[in-house]
Amino acid sequence: MTSTQSEAETLRDRIAAELARTRARTAGLTDAVDDDDLTRQHSPLMSPLVWDLAHVGNQEELWLVRDVGGRGPVRHDIDDLYDAFKQPRRDRPSLPLLPPGEARAYLATVRDKVYDLLERVSLTDRPLVADGFAFGMIVQHEQQHDETMLATHQLRSGPPVLGAPPPPEPAVRVDGEVLVPAGPFTMGTSTDPWALDNERPAHTVDLPAYVIDAAPVSNGRYREFIADGGYDDPRWWSAAGWAHRQAEGLTAPMHWRRDGDGWAYRRFGRWDPVRDDEPVVHVCCHEAEAFAAWAGKRLPTEAEWEKAARWDPATGRSRRYPWGDDEPTAAHANLDQRHLWPAPVGAYPAGASPLGVHQLVGDVWEWTSTTFRGHPGFTAFPYREYSEVFFGDDYRVLRGGSFGTDRAACRGTFRNWDYPIRRQIFSGFRCARDPRPEER
Ligand code: AVJ
Ligand code: FE
Repeated sequence: MTSTQSEAETLRDRIAAELARTRARTAGLTDAVDDDDLTRQHSPLMSPLVWDLAHVGNQEELWLVRDVGGRGPVRHDIDDLYDAFKQPRRDRPSLPLLPPGEARAYLATVRDKVYDLLERVSLTDRPLVADGFAFGMIVQHEQQHDETMLATHQLRSGPPVLGAPPPPEPAVRVDGEVLVPAGPFTMGTSTDPWALDNERPAHTVDLPAYVIDAAPVSNGRYREFIADGGYDDPRWWSAAGWAHRQAEGLTAPMHWRRDGDGWAYRRFGRWDPVRDDEPVVHVCCHEAEAFAAWAGKRLPTEAEWEKAARWDPATGRSRRYPWGDDEPTAAHANLDQRHLWPAPVGAYPAGASPLGVHQLVGDVWEWTSTTFRGHPGFTAFPYREYSEVFFGDDYRVLRGGSFGTDRAACRGTFRNWDYPIRRQIFSGFRCARDPRPEER
């Protein structure tokens, strides 16, 4: 075998392993509840789980079986039902969806064809399949829907059905802030083979010096904001944020309730006391901005987040993750739904950046002050509906990934986005600020 042949075999094996690992997660999330629960809508913000399930199979059929494989349709009658643009989420429960058994059979049929074509397809000749991109895109798509299904589980009422060990305890003390010196860094990527279109291309961004929190904002700090009347003082809120806070009657993060003198937080069907040293989660961008204003700070821009996460002062190079270029392990970050909530601050010393910024990847998605746009030189690939149709002022960028994000769908360049009012996602934040003159 030539080395290129064996490299192609290694890539095929890696793809097959990622597909299987991802499908096991999907099965876990959907086998955990009965058929009635799978077909019900647990929140108007979410699809019935059985819609996500069949949609994952349908995207795999469209991109891998039909486009990459050039095969005829597995089911020609369901494309519209599972087209997210044709079917608004609130209407999905009333659609003639495939019942759970049929949806599972459909996914299995599609997957068999994919394994079959994976053995034959050339992985080099078309941009769509170069380095296995289309397969990587489909793995990431399924993982993104798995995180969405995990958020649906969090919104479900009833006793717990998901289990996981608690995250690790703090290993180091992390507090305070980190000064990031002024200067250029490389943002985005032109070389990461499975990076999605909105992460491309690599380009230089020159930033003034800034100060960023060494860890995500904790429940303890957030409770101080609540106790200080932060939710009742329009000074801290943007006009849009205050209007939203008033209209929705926001008084605390989603899933919190008062518990004696403190707070409790419902996670996946269980009420636990709010733990002060865990990053706050289930806050919307308006809440994050109000906290930051109260604290005398602001949210970081997306570029500030990425420089803190990727820039290595020793070499001037941007790396794939805060800790370097190595794939995430259980020691680096709270990812992969290994745990069901954010880990306390200080639990991942091995995942810190060279400048000492902790827990950038995993735990909670972090709101930024940046609206979602293409990087300079952006081209939609392979379809405008993944990112380009969402560009504009309506969406804010979130970075870093949560405890429910899989390592395949998360890296220093990965970009998530949502409306600034959303908080059913696993969203938290850290603050930044301009340096004081004596800090420069
Ligand atoms: C990148 C998480 C915003 O869920 O809307 C899934 C990912 N795109 N199917 C979303 C996605 C198409 C997307 N987010
Ligand atoms: Fe999708």
